[in-house]
Amino acid sequence: MTSPAPSSRPPRAELHVHLEGTLEPDLAFELAARNGVELPYPDPESLRAAYDFADLPAFLDLYTANMAVLRTEADFADLTRAYLVRAARAGVRHAEISFDPQAHLVRDVPLEAVVGGITGVLERAEADHGISTLLIAAFHRDKPVADALDVLERLLAMDAPVVGIGLDNAEIGYPPGLFADLYARAETAGLRRTAHAGEEGPAANVRDALDLLHAERIDHGIAVVQDPALVARVAAGQVPFTVCPVSNVRLRAVPSLAEHPLPDMIAAGMLVSVNSDDPPYFGAYVDDVDDAVTAAFDLSRDQRAALAAASFEGSFLPRDRVAAYL
Ligand code: HPA
Ligand code: ZN
Repeated sequence: MTSPAPSSRPPRAELHVHLEGTLEPDLAFELAARNGVELPYPDPESLRAAYDFADLPAFLDLYTANMAVLRTEADFADLTRAYLVRAARAGVRHAEISFDPQAHLVRDVPLEAVVGGITGVLERAEADHGISTLLIAAFHRDKPVADALDVLERLLAMDAPVVGIGLDNAEIGYPPGLFADLYARAETAGLRRTAHAGEEGPAANVRDALDLLHAERIDHGIAVVQDPALVARVAAGQVPFTVCPVSNVRLRAVPSLAEHPLPDMIAAGMLVSVNSDDPPYFGAYVDDVDDAVTAAFDLSRDQRAALAAASFEGSFLPRDRVAAYL
């Protein structure tokens, strides 16, 4: 997909993007060659052709398998830089980027290489790409909470520049309450808290993320519309929801964009932003998602401007920094 110059789009923030999910097939092959890793596809086109998913677990299988090419600090730096270059073209002026430390530690990639590679590039993101950034360490909900706690302690001990924590991977069968100790530790350490909830799981997961994890923000959260009282609560509290409509269609959480609950969430007065999640896997960077949503719901210029403003308002930036962007 082609994208116009950034000046033709309102400035926006991106709050829900998985760094590992920004791995383009071309870069995957480049890193595979550099690291002597064999990918089970003959070329990037064949890999991209495999990006057709029955559900979230099917996506997670390929997303995780492709991480085999990420081995060195330079790999993580290249991955981070490639996302920033493309995000700048999409009009992104502030990005809150998640990464999955556990996915690399299980492959014996040192945490220092992961964090060093990412943060070395993020430190220069404002100067090099015109994008302010914050980094979020996301933990796998299908792994034991003890493992997550161990990694969080390591990140704290090394003074990793993370603004907060998230919770991702398979949702069904892994309710938020399992991670209460992790989120309590993060809160004590002064970290911000977001969590995937209500993506393929029920509205109760959104409520539990708020009540049991003290999540300040919800990633996806589309199931909230099943619970009108909860919708009223999150609208009143202006809890930010980072919604990824194209991801939800591509992972078949909703049958089509036209049937996506985004307009209902907006109409209810919720603080909703539109995000990409894992752009190459779902065939859409955030400007492409904006275009798809604009077309599907016939959004007016004012409605698009309101979504762009909400992307900054839902960020973990200090309020004076948010105000400067609006
Ligand atoms: N959901 C859960 N985990 C993820 C996702 C997602 O959409 N993307 C990358 N990890
Ligand atoms: Zn996500």
